[in-house]
Amino acid sequence: MSHLSQNAIDQIKEICSRYEKEPTPLMMILSDIQNEYGYIPLDVQELVSDETGISVAEIYGVVTFYSFFSLKPKGKYVIGCCLGTACYVKGAQKIIDKFSEILGISAGETTEDGLFTIDALRCIGACGIAPAISVNGTVYPKMTPEAVPEIIQKYKDGEV
Ligand code: FES
Repeated sequence: MSHLSQNAIDQIKEICSRYEKEPTPLMMILSDIQNEYGYIPLDVQELVSDETGISVAEIYGVVTFYSFFSLKPKGKYVIGCCLGTACYVKGAQKIIDKFSEILGISAGETTEDGLFTIDALRCIGACGIAPAISVNGTVYPKMTPEAVPEIIQKYKDGEV
């Protein structure tokens, strides 16, 4: 039994219909849903399956394979910690560990107040300023564990 509102059902059907002429519409449909809703829970995947004829198993496989897609709602601030090679050799693990320690969550999780999500990412294209993180798309260069509390506080205080 779906818990989706009629409004949400109509919107998702509309997104599916945008790509009905595409031979392989799944990535485009899921990207639009992720962008508009921030996550793609199972009942949405079932609806996409009904609309497109693509199996739920295939849709679930795509949603769980790509880190861009999320099954659960993300926090207001998504902290992307790069663990790519350039960042890793410069101590990125210590930075993500510091975020985890202070926020009390692991990578892939969201704080109970819905404020922060930590994502572990591969290269975010900022190797020259490694180790780098991004918060809602803003890149912070040459990160250190010592800089982590200040960044968290800044977002908590709404100074951004
Ligand atoms: S490896 Fe981190 S930005 Fe490239």
